[in-house]
Amino acid sequence: MSSQDTALWLQEQLPQSPTTAIILGTGLSNMAESFKVIKILPYHKIPGFVKTTAPSHKGNLILAEIRGKSVLFMQGRFHYYEGHPMPKVIFPIQVLAALGIQTLILTNASGSLRPELAPGSIVQITDHINFMGINPLVGVNNDALGERFPSLNEPYDPQYGKICDDIAHKLGIPTQKGIYIAVSGPSLETKAECAAFATWGADLVGMSTVPEVIVARHAGIRVLAYSIVTNYSNLFHSDAHSQEEIRHHASIASEQLKLLLSEFIKDL
Ligand code: HPA
Repeated sequence: MSSQDTALWLQEQLPQSPTTAIILGTGLSNMAESFKVIKILPYHKIPGFVKTTAPSHKGNLILAEIRGKSVLFMQGRFHYYEGHPMPKVIFPIQVLAALGIQTLILTNASGSLRPELAPGSIVQITDHINFMGINPLVGVNNDALGERFPSLNEPYDPQYGKICDDIAHKLGIPTQKGIYIAVSGPSLETKAECAAFATWGADLVGMSTVPEVIVARHAGIRVLAYSIVTNYSNLFHSDAHSQEEIRHHASIASEQLKLLLSEFIKDL
């Protein structure tokens, strides 16, 4: 099943053709349901999609309306650490491109590599380091989607970033900026790894998003990305992380992030 075939299948299921999509990461899954839901399609019913096994990732594609604008939500994503081959991880993004999505908003949870980015912080991702050991575009290039050697000079749209800074300021929502380093996981990072990442300039560490951003940019989709800091990385302590702690911080900040993003989408 090609991404084009899946897009054609989806076009038959969806009564509207949105141009904006949002990927909801850990703790943000319920965001879609707080808007006017038009259609819910479980991933396992979508041709070419795999089943998500990540904790707190529900696995639905949801068409919803935010203040009159139709938006496609991916409730949960596919991670490399789940054992999905990279082409499966990025397949939904290629489907979104084939559907005519022009703006992709990505959200995730991350660990902090900087003392000022405390758990609960909302961080606009301004750049990334791909340390997953794999690039999602390896293989035959799909010339119909994009060029062989896409430039990643500005992967995170500076104009979108500025618009969101203004909205956050207007709404009184504190946000920060940071560089995200993607690792494959699923084990968390050692102190030595965190120390190395911090010296490279990374502020946040996580196990997703970067492959999706690379594929979206390859296809010319404009990208906005926010991370919710759910824990201090092992750089700052020697305690084991609990998944409860991670979900708790993600759900508190998610209310504010939801407000910010709906305001952004309304003005698109
Ligand atoms: N490391 C990697 N991924 C994460 C973390 C972390 O500390 N927290 C949430 N996702």
